Amino acid sequence: MHSLVTRLARTSTSKLSWNHIFCDRCSGVLSPHTASRRHIGADWFRYLTSKKEKSYAVVAPATVSPIKPVPSTIRVPGYVSHPHTYNYGDLDGQIEIKSEDQIEGMRAACQTAAQVLEETSQHIAPGCTTDQLDQVAHNACIKRECYPSPLAYKSFPKSICTSVNNVVVHGIPDSRELQLGDIISIDVTVYLNGFHGDLCATYGVGKIDSGADILLQVTQECRDLAISQCGPGVHFANIGNVIQEHAEEYGLEVVPYFCGHGIGSYFHGAPQVLHYGNDGPEIMLPGMTFTIEPILSEGDWEVKSWPDGWTYTTSDHSRTAQWEHTVLITEHGCEVLTELNS
Ligand code: MF3
Ligand code: CO
Ligand code: CO
Repeated sequence: MHSLVTRLARTSTSKLSWNHIFCDRCSGVLSPHTASRRHIGADWFRYLTSKKEKSYAVVAPATVSPIKPVPSTIRVPGYVSHPHTYNYGDLDGQIEIKSEDQIEGMRAACQTAAQVLEETSQHIAPGCTTDQLDQVAHNACIKRECYPSPLAYKSFPKSICTSVNNVVVHGIPDSRELQLGDIISIDVTVYLNGFHGDLCATYGVGKIDSGADILLQVTQECRDLAISQCGPGVHFANIGNVIQEHAEEYGLEVVPYFCGHGIGSYFHGAPQVLHYGNDGPEIMLPGMTFTIEPILSEGDWEVKSWPDGWTYTTSDHSRTAQWEHTVLITEHGCEVLTELNS
């Protein structure tokens, strides 16, 4: 534990004020604006910020618009063409090793997904509804002749997931207008020529507070640190181990309920990629493609679901961020398939 925390623990808490907090690590004075969990430790950060009013809106359900049509010329996944007989597959089965042709298919789908996210994110602004972002993403898919994978996947009603502030994951785009200071995760998956590509990023709406800024940055760092570990012969467990360690360094919690997944002609398949510390036995091999998509919370990791059956929020209304890439294991390391080629 950071020695500053020990010193604070010996001080009478009633005398604490922001001006009296010094950081042993950098010799700086911590103000309300510069105090971070990294400096003072998670418990103290929570104690010191608990009395402040929330600087963001807690999101509640709003109106979901009718399903948007897809032209019949666009190739649809099996769960759309054969919803009653489609086999969604098995997250615990064998991990597929892809051929060169399949890898080429994955590259194209993943690049297209990245383009759709890039285009959609440019429309983020106060007053814009998440349904309008869904429309932008939907049109961006159609323009590129790909199918928006979430649409009608296990009855999900929209083309992307939009998760704002205390919404953890799988938020359904609706009539809620974005507000200045919100954070929003946009998760895009597309189906192109028989393959899915999947990525997610979290954005601020205008200026966000420093807590949100740290949350966004550290979550992205967690994903990217995990990616830097990936290569042939590496344990999948390394992914969760580095993510949890990095998150904890900043006093952030990994939400343990949602994992990365194998991906290909199927949306979700083996392996399950855990984002918390574990000692799973599976090993990465060239030709495997899977996602890494950690979700971090600035508060507790416990979640609740909404009656829509999809949306998860934090139980304590704290904010979360998520960043996702689809990666390919190569002979020498890994290729980040959803990183936009310039
Ligand atoms: N894109 C999400 C993932 O990363 C899955 C969304 S499923 C949906 O795995 F149905 F909600 F779209
Ligand atoms: Co995914
Ligand atoms: Co995703």
